[in-house]
Amino acid sequence: MKKIWIIHNSEHGNSEKISKQLADGLKDEYDVSVGSIRNTNPEVIAKDEPYGLIIAVRILAFSSDKEMRNFVDKLDGVITKPLSKVAYFATHALGWKKMFIKGMKKTLEKVGCVEEICPEYLEVRLQGAEGPTREGADEKISEYLITLKNFMK
Ligand SMILES: Cc1cc2nc3c(=O)[nH]c(=O)nc-3n(C[C@H](O)[C@H](O)[C@H](O)COP(=O)(O)O)c2cc1C
Repeated sequence: MKKIWIIHNSEHGNSEKISKQLADGLKDEYDVSVGSIRNTNPEVIAKDEPYGLIIAVRILAFSSDKEMRNFVDKLDGVITKPLSKVAYFATHALGWKKMFIKGMKKTLEKVGCVEEICPEYLEVRLQGAEGPTREGADEKISEYLITLKNFMK
């Protein structure tokens, strides 16, 4: 089975929960690991030589979580085999604006270790900064799983 890593930097549990939902949906076809960048070393991921990477991005101060962008930069520094497929999703509390996620897109386009970026991303709006998700999130996540499975092929 091809390896996929899903990484998050969840504080209130929402992006972690979605990461696990995506992992559950992919686990029949892929060997999936989920980890927080707070306790996962980039070297651990690099050692697995993953085929795919899915990144949970919290929107903080109208922008993509800087810690996550820095983690991707660090991963780029240690990775030996390029990541064939990379996708990302965002959790946020305010009305969605495309510019929120621009920073992560830029980071992924800049690093050398990424071969293909999923053209579609998922954004999940929360009921306030601590969540939970708003109504309809599970349906959106299920739909995105179909997109992800096609992309990861
Ligand atoms: C300091 C701070 C700033 C935030 N700024 C924004 C923002 O500009 N836009 C937005 O939609 N959500 C904003 N949020 C909400 C976060 O996106 C939300 O807390 C996060 O996605 C929750 O993910 P988690 O449950 O995995 O920690 C902010 C939250 C915090 C704590």
